[in-house]
Amino acid sequence: MITRRDYLKQASLAAGCLAVSGVRAFAAEQEQQISGKGSLKEHGHKRGIMAGCAVGARQLHDEAFQRLIAEQYNLVVSENSMKFGPLSPKPGEYNWTDADALVDFAEKHKMKVRGHNFVWHAQLPMWFKGTATKDNAKKIMVDHINTVAGRYKGKIQAWDVVNEAIEVKDGMPDGLRKSPWYELIGPEYLDIAYRTARHADPKAKLTYNDYSIEDDSEDNAKKRAATLALLKRFKSNGTPIDALGIQSHIHAGTGETYGKGMRELISRAQALGLEVYLTEFDVNDDGVADDDFAARDRAVAAVYTDYLNIALESKAVKAVLTWGVSDKDTWLNGMREHREKRANRRQRPLPFDNDLKPTAPFFAIRDAFDKAPHR
Ligand code: G3I
Repeated sequence: MITRRDYLKQASLAAGCLAVSGVRAFAAEQEQQISGKGSLKEHGHKRGIMAGCAVGARQLHDEAFQRLIAEQYNLVVSENSMKFGPLSPKPGEYNWTDADALVDFAEKHKMKVRGHNFVWHAQLPMWFKGTATKDNAKKIMVDHINTVAGRYKGKIQAWDVVNEAIEVKDGMPDGLRKSPWYELIGPEYLDIAYRTARHADPKAKLTYNDYSIEDDSEDNAKKRAATLALLKRFKSNGTPIDALGIQSHIHAGTGETYGKGMRELISRAQALGLEVYLTEFDVNDDGVADDDFAARDRAVAAVYTDYLNIALESKAVKAVLTWGVSDKDTWLNGMREHREKRANRRQRPLPFDNDLKPTAPFFAIRDAFDKAPHR
């Protein structure tokens, strides 16, 4: 798969036998194919698929990132600034600066916003552990959801109301994670959270979001089953739920396979009347033995292609968001496993490189959109 950078290098080499102006015009034409009609959002839009990315607070202060995000995407999600911990420095106090900046940026560029997330076991406020008790945890959760959902009412396409509530290894009933919310409120925290969110913002699509439910491994199959059981519980309880978020943090070079499990997960979610979003897509390339960039990019692009061709077969899949825009800022370089085993090389998991030039995954995503049936 040729990247734009490789293409332009070859084109300029060809300039030896062509008038430079001719190559410049041709290269400029290629440039157009990457932005405008050639952007991810345009190719996705043609198939009824929203193209999105996670945005870090720093990137919103960088003009180059702002231009790229506005050019390429019609859906954004905050990587961190809408989480409970980053939002709430003290009980009942909120710092809206970074979250408002994302929502304002999206409104300015006519983009939709995913809200991530209300209730999670991670990134809780520093004050939570010393403040939350079995007596007040439900009020803390309900007040938090009402405060945040209320502030952005009508501005959020979908909220990840509860994030990552399944952890089969915890051995809890129904494979639920032994999260602080479970321990303080009980399993009903989930239903309370979704009902509160529906009341606070009736327009937002209420999403359940999780990871490691994608591949054909036994662990993923167990987690997939528990996730589907949770979604069925919501539907049978009358708990409002509109969508399943499949995070899609997947890997190249590890022998993971995707197919039967993903197709089943998506079709079962669709059968429950849910939309499906690929919410945090990136392809970890630590498992690719070859250090050569071209080999790593080919391996990563191949995983993007195979995975998207499977997922996008279903018209229930309405959005594809990568977890970040550029390799420069991927969270994957901060993972302990990466620092221990691959500290000598930076990951190449996303559609744009350190210089914000399209990478092999960019073309793989765009081609997968073109191949997908229209929603
Ligand atoms: O903002 C503080 C900064 O003030 C401080 O100096 C610095 C010192 O450590 O920490 C900064 O906060 C970091 C934050 O990212 C913002 O950069 C946190 O330490 C760090 O833990 C946090 O990591 C985020 C991680 O969620 C937290 O679990 C990653 O950026 C983010 O990409 C990642 O995203 C999650 C999704 O929300 C849910 N699905 C999995 C995904 C990957 O873990």
